[in-house]
Amino acid sequence: MATVRIPGKDLVIREPLDITAALAAIGIDYERWSLDRVGVDADADSVLHAYAAEIAEMKLKGGYVTADVIDVDPETPNLDAMLAKFSTEHTHDEDEVRFIVAGRGIFHINPLNGEVVSIEVEAGDMIRVPRGTRHWFDLCTDRRIRAIRWFQDKAGWTPHYTHSGINAQFEPLCFGPAYFGPRVHTGF
Ligand SMILES: [Fe+2]
Repeated sequence: MATVRIPGKDLVIREPLDITAALAAIGIDYERWSLDRVGVDADADSVLHAYAAEIAEMKLKGGYVTADVIDVDPETPNLDAMLAKFSTEHTHDEDEVRFIVAGRGIFHINPLNGEVVSIEVEAGDMIRVPRGTRHWFDLCTDRRIRAIRWFQDKAGWTPHYTHSGINAQFEPLCFGPAYFGPRVHTGF
């Protein structure tokens, strides 16, 4: 289950219904999906096959045309450069849709209608950040995430930076098991 924080209100939200409501209020879709379909060592094709029904349903819902699996760990080449692209506030021309299969990370959302919200996602979490939403992303200290991604058009996923600098005001703290302490920059 995700952990949602609103640092400006010194608020941590952990109850499932409260999390869904808090995220819906800022336009973020959030669901929990079963994780028992594939083993931890399954290859990307097996993951896509295991979640074929959900992938197809999301495609219908959001007009996504492709899905893939992104796999990031500390050995990923050029990891820091890759992550740095997404750890400052940006928007995309298409939705950012992820189902976390393994690992964890933190989205920060800067909604037009309220305080910045942080969402620590973990395995089993599906999140949809609508196009145009101001956000940024970091990994936790284990620098590990594996996720299914959906795309309307991969070109639409290029980040548009806001250059607001607001991300510097929020330390991406991971609260998951064994991940206390400052995270490491990375990005989606
Ligand atoms: Fe993004």
